[in-house]
Amino acid sequence: MATSQNAGKQAAARAALEYVTPGKVLGVGTGSTVNFLVDELATRRIPIIGAVSSSNESTQRLEAAGIPVLDLNDVGEIETYIDGADETNPRRQLIKGGGAALTREKIIAAVARRFVCIADDSKLVGVLGAFPLPVEVIPMARAYVARQLVRLGGRPVWREKVVTDNGNHILDVHDLRITDPVALEAAINQIVGVVTSGLFAARPADLVILGGPTGIRTF
Ligand code: 5RP
Repeated sequence: MATSQNAGKQAAARAALEYVTPGKVLGVGTGSTVNFLVDELATRRIPIIGAVSSSNESTQRLEAAGIPVLDLNDVGEIETYIDGADETNPRRQLIKGGGAALTREKIIAAVARRFVCIADDSKLVGVLGAFPLPVEVIPMARAYVARQLVRLGGRPVWREKVVTDNGNHILDVHDLRITDPVALEAAINQIVGVVTSGLFAARPADLVILGGPTGIRTF
């Protein structure tokens, strides 16, 4: 990973602290950008009630930082959810799931009042799809779902050896040029055996913070 990309991730994570509200519950995503956020939270000690975590990996990191991790079923409201992305377009529609945490990430995004996406500026694209779209599938349906994804114009590749925190498999769908993300998200959701797709289009981010060599860009 290039150092400048890491600097961009860290800068975006720092800028996102402005959206962490004391006395509220924070949703926390997964990945290297979010790891910078957790490090910042540990240092600044903003008095949040606790965090709802999107993965076992983030739970471990949060707990090591002394931040209480809450069960979503015990939480009425998530004020803000902060997470990274593999790609964003200018409309704040995202591809996520490079870290295989897409299902829990999408659940938290659905619950949260505000979804703040943090990334280095290499993640900004005009059209989503250069990054292979992750799709979480029930293991017994993997081959069937793959055939249906081919019918939608993609080239699914099984991410072998990866089992999600929910016990499922991941298909990474290559060769997509996603000009209508909302329609594709709906079409993939219709395939029996799909748990979630990594397209966050029907519920995009409310705010994207990109860090890069020229500073922070927010849209
Ligand atoms: C995990 C994700 C991550 O947010 C995405 O992969 C970006 O990761 P990173 O911050 O390491 O670039 O969706 O499932």
